[in-house]
Amino acid sequence: MTTSRICVVTGAGRGIGRAVAHRLSNSGHRVVLTARTGAQLAEVAAELPGPSLCVPADATDPDAPQAIRDQVAAEWGPIEVAVLAAGTASSAPLAKTTDAQWRAAMEINLDAPFRFLRALAPGMTERGWGRIVVIASMAAKHGDPYVSAYTASKHGVLGLVRSAAAELARSGVTVNAVCPGFVDTPMTEESIANISATTGRDAASARAALEARQPIRRLITAGEVAEAVEYCVASAATTGQGINVDGGAVQS
Ligand SMILES: NC(=O)c1ccc[n+]([C@@H]2O[C@H](COP(=O)([O-])OP(=O)(O)OC[C@H]3O[C@@H](n4cnc5c(N)ncnc54)[C@H](OP(=O)(O)O)[C@@H]3O)[C@@H](O)[C@H]2O)c1
Repeated sequence: MTTSRICVVTGAGRGIGRAVAHRLSNSGHRVVLTARTGAQLAEVAAELPGPSLCVPADATDPDAPQAIRDQVAAEWGPIEVAVLAAGTASSAPLAKTTDAQWRAAMEINLDAPFRFLRALAPGMTERGWGRIVVIASMAAKHGDPYVSAYTASKHGVLGLVRSAAAELARSGVTVNAVCPGFVDTPMTEESIANISATTGRDAASARAALEARQPIRRLITAGEVAEAVEYCVASAATTGQGINVDGGAVQS
């Protein structure tokens, strides 16, 4: 039987984070749900079969990781598993990418995971067991046009994962990234709306264009990403990896 762990999931209000919360709860873990929109967290909490705690927070707030860690420690105990799914995507041609767009991508996709690792890894190493999984992207391994800020932030977070995994390898703590292709979530719905707005294509053909980017010719489901996260939580031997869940788009 799986040991019940205390897990925190960022970005748990919708999309991939929500699917991860479901998967971990269904496997018997206790799940801390965090994102900015408290109402969405409450909806997810009501759907879960097991215990959950809702901790609304902005993951880009530099104090958020310690505050979440300390609140969970007071209510349940130390966080043993962290799944960092909070993120945003934006697109713009390189020459039109503003400093604000660049900083926004770095703050949520790279700075926030760094601060969560810094806040949570010491307790995990002291206790000799921990799992950290960052939801990166196939953009962590491959460069596409018009997404320079997003791609740089995701390459950066994979570098963070690899270095942290090397540093913590003998401690019982693993650090991995899951690198999805286009996943059927509200974020992708937004990308489809943006493609329609900028190209004049209808939503169905914009969606078909994203489906065609995966060799399996469909979007990835959030549940398929959650399955890879659960593998990372179960495995003691997998660390420092960027596990592609992208229908074969990136072969590395
Ligand atoms: N969808 C894809 O095709 C795809 C592909 C590859 C990688 N990914 C990555 O997977 C992760 C999740 O994506 P998704 O598709 O599930 O996105 P989503 O549907 O837009 O959900 C994003 C979640 O992150 C939360 N979030 C965003 N900014 C936040 C902030 N500043 N503080 C706290 N929470 C924040 C959102 O809640 P609030 O807005 O309420 O805070 C929401 O719960 C992201 O890192 C994304 O880059 C997605």
